[in-house]
Amino acid sequence: MSRLAFIREQAKKKPVQANVIVGRNFKHGSNVTIGGDGFGYEKNEQGEYEFMQHFGDVYIGDDVKIGSNTCIDRGAVEHTQIGNGTKIDNLVHIAHGVKIGDNCLIVAGTVICGSTEIGGGTYIGANVTIREHLKIGNNSYIGMGSVVTKNVGDNEMWYGNPAKFIKTI
Ligand SMILES: CC(C)(COP(=O)(O)OP(=O)(O)OC[C@H]1O[C@@H](n2cnc3c(N)ncnc32)[C@H](O)[C@@H]1OP(=O)(O)O)[C@@H](O)C(=O)NCCC(=O)NCCS
Repeated sequence: MSRLAFIREQAKKKPVQANVIVGRNFKHGSNVTIGGDGFGYEKNEQGEYEFMQHFGDVYIGDDVKIGSNTCIDRGAVEHTQIGNGTKIDNLVHIAHGVKIGDNCLIVAGTVICGSTEIGGGTYIGANVTIREHLKIGNNSYIGMGSVVTKNVGDNEMWYGNPAKFIKTI
C-alpha cells in the first residue's frame, strides 16, 4: 500500500485523543506538550498535503524528568515511549513513534525524528538532530550539534555534521 493510500485508510477511522501513561515520580517544567499529533503528511494527486490521523499513545516510565517547552508527539500507529529514569532538557522535540530507553540524558535543543530508537544509558548532547528510523545503541554518546544520519552501535561516541564514529567508549 502506498503511503497516501495508508493515510486515507487511517482517515476513515474515528479520531481519538492520545492516552498519555505516566509512571511514578514524574517531574516536568512549564509548557510541556505530550501526546500531540505527529507531523505526518503526504502529498496527494493535486499536490496538496493530506494529514495522517494519529492513533498511537505515549508511555512514560518511572522517574522521568521533562524540561520546559519540550514536545513529545504521539505515534501514528505505534506508541511513543520514554524509558525509566530518562531526563530530557528544555526545548527538545521527540517525534511520533520514537522509543527512548532507560536512563538516557537528552540535552536542550535536540530533535529526534520519527520512529528512531535510542538505547538505554545514552547521552545526547545539546542541539543534536537524529534522522528518522535510526537505531542508536545502548550507552552511546552523541556530541553536541551533531546531525546523525546513520545507525550508531552500542558504546560508541559519534559527533559532527554529518556525525561520524569517533571511538568506542
Ligand atoms: C563530544 C565531546 C564530549 C568531545 O569532547 P572532547 O573529547 O573534549 O573533544 P575535544 O574538545 O578535545 O575535540 C576534539 C576534536 O573534535 C572536535 N569536536 C569536539 N566535539 C565536537 C562536536 N560535538 N562536533 C564536531 N566536532 C567536535 C573539536 O573541534 C576537536 O577538533 P580538532 O581535533 O580539529 O581540534 C564534546 O564536544 C561534547 O559534545 N560534549 C557535550 C556538550 C554538551 O552537550 N553539553 C551540554 C551540557 S548541559
